[in-house]
Amino acid sequence: MAKKIILNEKDLPTKWFNLIPHLPGPLPPPLHPGTRQPAGPDDLAAIFPMNLIEQEMCPDSWVPIPEELLKVYSIWRPTPLVRADRLEQFLGTPAKIFYKNEMVSPPGSHKPNTAVAQAYFNKVAGVKRLTTETGAGQWGSALSFATHIFGLGCRVYMVKCSFYQKPYRKSLMRLWGGEVFPSPTDMTNAGRQILAKDPDTPGSLGMAISEAVEEAATNSDCNYSLGSVLNHVCLHQSIIGLETQKQFESIGLKPDVVIGCAGGGSNFAGLAFPFVKEKIDGRDIKIIAVEPAACPTMTKGPYRYDFGDTAGTTPLMKMHTLGHDFVPAGIHAGGLRYHGMAPLVSAGIKHNLIEPQAKHQLECFEASVTFARTEGFVPAPETSHAIRAAIVEALECKKTGQEKVIVFNFSGHGHFDMSAYDDFFDGKLHDYDYPKEKIDAALASVPQVE
Ligand SMILES: Cc1ncc(COP(=O)(O)O)c(C=O)c1O
Repeated sequence: MAKKIILNEKDLPTKWFNLIPHLPGPLPPPLHPGTRQPAGPDDLAAIFPMNLIEQEMCPDSWVPIPEELLKVYSIWRPTPLVRADRLEQFLGTPAKIFYKNEMVSPPGSHKPNTAVAQAYFNKVAGVKRLTTETGAGQWGSALSFATHIFGLGCRVYMVKCSFYQKPYRKSLMRLWGGEVFPSPTDMTNAGRQILAKDPDTPGSLGMAISEAVEEAATNSDCNYSLGSVLNHVCLHQSIIGLETQKQFESIGLKPDVVIGCAGGGSNFAGLAFPFVKEKIDGRDIKIIAVEPAACPTMTKGPYRYDFGDTAGTTPLMKMHTLGHDFVPAGIHAGGLRYHGMAPLVSAGIKHNLIEPQAKHQLECFEASVTFARTEGFVPAPETSHAIRAAIVEALECKKTGQEKVIVFNFSGHGHFDMSAYDDFFDGKLHDYDYPKEKIDAALASVPQVE
């Protein structure tokens, strides 16, 4: 079997896949933050263009990908599906391990799959610039790249601790024309209020979202763009899983285990949702979403309505949540430090279609080092969670002798995260559990809706 299963550009999927109509029950709607009634398209129009709002609420299984966007996707797509045979040999497992290599995009992760789509649809709607938040900087660099392609401005509120931990991501954003600020800033009301309470806060994605949403809502030429969580983001990312299905078909295999790390849920959703549909249709398949034990949204957070941001300005979404004012420990997987989980992924967990798991940072870094020493590529700290789960599955196969086919999403490279690897080698990294008392405290501020 070839090491890399490569599709031709003409095999690029021409439609995105939408899981919403296939779920066993209706997806609970977003609620207006003030009235707590289901939010309609007009409630979202202050910060999103109508074409993306339609995708957010889309009842159809398939959404066509515009020709102009397919041309942009062809810069890095289709991405390779790679057999990790050197990792298999190292582990001594009879399992076949594959990874879908999303690090080959210009910014180095899966994030531009939705960034270019969001920039395109905003451009078509006449919007001039976008604001956003970023954790580790992968999303901010992806949106800077995308807005540059479509001639839009871009302002990024970057979580303060990551701004200083990952200085070169900031350079990358500036390279593509994005403006970057350490959040919370004193440029927005939300930022000023947070700083007044806690001037030394390390920041969080929830805070940065509040700032970006405020700027978009108060400027008519400006919209907000979210890199994860929302239905239309999962929709755009489905191109990952659709390509993977074609790639497995071309070698006559079907995966038994599908794995992705999950921060807001988008790369996991992208790989997994086409396979979730296979599972709904009756195929026996294990689908695992992996989060950090330090931010255990899916494994310890309840499934209930909460805000997407710290200031409580976004619509309420029904999702697994640790509470919107939760501030996670400064683990290096900055992109996994979000208090909520995509409503679609949360619904998949509720319907027993998706199995959530939590892994500690040290075991994940060990897995990344093993991967880099066998397969060569350096994973992002976020990606290491998926690798760890894949290794655990493969070692289980070693015990049982099962020859399972395992696929995980290689969501991004770690070339800008080398200080995290240095900290790991120098013994400076620690595992964090998120204690129950803290979860209970953070959940106290979650609104009582049901
Ligand atoms: C490389 C990488 N993987 C995974 C994630 C997690 O995000 P999501 O759960 O939306 O895929 C991020 C987020 O920044 C990331 O940069």
